[in-house]
This record gives sequence, structure tokens and C-alpha cells, in this order.
Amino acid sequence: MSARAGFTVAIDGPAAAGKGTVSRAVAGHFGFAHLDTGLLYRAVARRMLDAGGGYDAGRAEAIAAALEPADLDRGDLRTAEVAQAASRVAAVPQVRAALLEFQRAFAARAGGAVLDGRDIGTVICPEADVKLFVTASDAVRAGRRFRELTEKGFDTDFDTVLADLRARDARDADRIDAPLKPAGDALLLDTSEMSIEQAVAAAIAAVEARLTG
Ligand code: C5P
Repeated sequence: MSARAGFTVAIDGPAAAGKGTVSRAVAGHFGFAHLDTGLLYRAVARRMLDAGGGYDAGRAEAIAAALEPADLDRGDLRTAEVAQAASRVAAVPQVRAALLEFQRAFAARAGGAVLDGRDIGTVICPEADVKLFVTASDAVRAGRRFRELTEKGFDTDFDTVLADLRARDARDADRIDAPLKPAGDALLLDTSEMSIEQAVAAAIAAVEARLTG
């Protein structure tokens, strides 16, 4: 099935709910481009950490304005330290503003696009053709992230991962600008009791229904 130009799928949710897996699978199934928007905030955080000198909102804004696509390809963006720093820079309105146009242009590309993040259905693409909000219980999400980190060789424990995840969710949900929350017209997908295959199938069905409906 060929999508019309500009068909956009918005997938939001808290950390480690499965939205990355679902987004990649949906994009692969329909031949859409995929943007993991968390990488934008992680890339800003990474460059800020690299520069040393600690967190500073003004510096984060300057880094966001100068961000280049190659920054998203770095192999060191998925650490716990970068995740926490990302949620700090993501609370700075000027950082979000600097990253807005890139995301909207990506969403509007011909051939369809899937964007996943925290504010895609609410702020970046309020007119998205399909909106999903992917969640899972805290314990399930922490378990998934813990396995992911230990498989990559990071030395951590479940309680630390759970505490990190909750701190990040709270920061993301409580910020003034573009807080983490489902769009009013988003389809909620709780993956706590679902296999990856079931979650992917539900997401694909939602997109299929919109394409054919
Ligand atoms: O999705 P990921 O865990 O990689 O995102 C890292 C951080 O980036 C999140 O905790 C959140 O603070 C921020 N983020 C955001 N808006 C998005 C995507 C990510 O604020 N659309």
C-alpha cells in the first residue's frame, strides 16, 4: 500500500514503554521514514556533557541551534547519564523551539513518517494522521531497560534503573513546556502484558485502519 505524501504517525510515551520498537516496526512495515526524537535531546545533552562545566540552559540552547544530523549517529547517546541530562535540557523551552522545525520538516516528508517521542501528538504534529500513546507499568519498563543496559555491558541494578526512570518521567511530565501526556485523540497502547509482536500488530492495525478508512 502506498501512503500519500505527508502521512504522519505520532508515537509518544514514557521511557522504555516499547515505543522505539513499535515505531521501527511500523516504519519498516509501511516503508515510512522513522525519527527517534529522543536522540535530538540526547545529542544536545551529550555535547553539553562533553564540553564539561555542568548544566547550563543558555549553553544547551546554543548547542541545540547548532545541532547537525551526524550528531544523532553517535554511538554514545544511550547511556543512563545522557538520558538524565537529556530530560534536563528538554525542559528548556528554547531548546525545544530550536529543534521544532527539523522535526516538522521530517514529519512532512513525502512517503510517510513515524516520529516517536513525548510531545509528537500534542505539539510537534497535532495534525498527525495516527497518534499512539504507548505505556507500560513502571516495573515492566524498568525490567526492560535493565535487561537492555546489562546486555550492553553496563553495570547497574534494577532498583537504580527504576529510580532513574521515575525521576526522568516526573521531570518529563511536570515540565511547563510540552509535558509528557497523551494527546486527546491518541490511541492508548499499554504494552505491560503484551509481547513485542502483539504491540507491533496493534500499532500496524491502527495505521492500516487510517490508511484504508
Ligand atoms: O526517548 P528517550 O528516552 O531517548 O528521550 C530522552 C529524553 O528526551 C526524554 O526523557 C525527554 O526528556 C526528552 N524528549 C522530549 N521530547 C521528545 C523526545 C524526548 O522531551 N519528543
